[in-house]
Amino acid sequence: MKADRFFHRQSLPAILIFSMLIFNSCTKETTLKEAYAGEFVVGAALNTRTFAGNDTASSELVQKHFNSITSTNDLKWERIHPKPGEYTFERADMFVNYGEEHNMHVVGHVLIWHSQTPSWVFLDENGDTASREVMLERMKDHIETVMTRYRGRIHTWDVVNEALADDGSLRENNWYKAIGDDWVEKAFEFAQGIDPEVSLIYNDYSLANPAKRDGAVRLIQSLQEKGLKVDGIGMQGHYHLDNPSLENLEASIVAFSDLGIEVHITELDVNVLPSPWNYIGANVEMTHELHEELNPYPDSLPAEVQDELAVRYAGFFRIFREHHEHIERVTFWGESDRSSWLNNWPVRGRTNYPLLFDRELQPKPAFDAVMKVAGE
Ligand code: GLA
Repeated sequence: MKADRFFHRQSLPAILIFSMLIFNSCTKETTLKEAYAGEFVVGAALNTRTFAGNDTASSELVQKHFNSITSTNDLKWERIHPKPGEYTFERADMFVNYGEEHNMHVVGHVLIWHSQTPSWVFLDENGDTASREVMLERMKDHIETVMTRYRGRIHTWDVVNEALADDGSLRENNWYKAIGDDWVEKAFEFAQGIDPEVSLIYNDYSLANPAKRDGAVRLIQSLQEKGLKVDGIGMQGHYHLDNPSLENLEASIVAFSDLGIEVHITELDVNVLPSPWNYIGANVEMTHELHEELNPYPDSLPAEVQDELAVRYAGFFRIFREHHEHIERVTFWGESDRSSWLNNWPVRGRTNYPLLFDRELQPKPAFDAVMKVAGE
């Protein structure tokens, strides 16, 4: 996948002619994937419309700038395995076909998670919490069926998503309650050996926070001590303009690299809107005034905030470059502001600006900043 491997396969005259052509036409890379070739692949998470052919403009943008794709929702348990014994692979197949057609690094997101998983998975026939044995059987069947179907075609699997609480302990989710504290280990155990070529990773958010970073290190070490193959960690990277600090982000990349595993930045975006948590108590309805206060840029992003976003992205990418030997991939959660989940979360109907391309799919100052860092 990495560019240096690609070029080793080309003949010398071809490389010379190619280099001259490139030199004559332009001296600067113009796409994200070219700018970071040889360092890491650059990915985008796609909604169904983009890979199903219903949004050709976004699809063209993806093909131009990205060489890895993740599906935002179409490989999650609720979509792919909605009822016991019933698998629905139509959209997932389209997604994988799209990645193959465009020669991309295809990411499977996600095998086991507590969210976007149907409730039947966690219940017995009486509606009580299912037993450990039943849950392990369901987990094994799901992992084996899905991984086997895409063997050799999906290159990285998020085996488990979000098993940790903010303090770094195991989150008490439905998997934990039914199976116990070896549930993550079991998921990795079931994923072993199905596809020897695939990277198996653990994915979570807030991994730049020291307590959660330490918890993730302990979790990965415990899998390694049991002799399980765990190839990498996914740092989701749903960031803000002022959080996390670059120091904490870098310290986590170093801590995970020291475990001998790959680091994947899996869901990068930067929320530029005010947080509602400071305004909304547990049960306060969103008034019109409050919505306006929380949605300060309905028409366009002021130049000073564009600049702040650009500086923020440049800071991230300087760190990614610095540690590129350990970073396999940097994936954005969406290809443009137009389709970002942050327009509707945690408040519906806001206008957010978290990515490198705007609503018209045009590059923003943050894009220029990221391209500039590649040339530094
Ligand atoms: C989490 C999940 C993703 C997605 C995003 C928000 O980070 O891992 O699958 O749901 O939230 O869209």
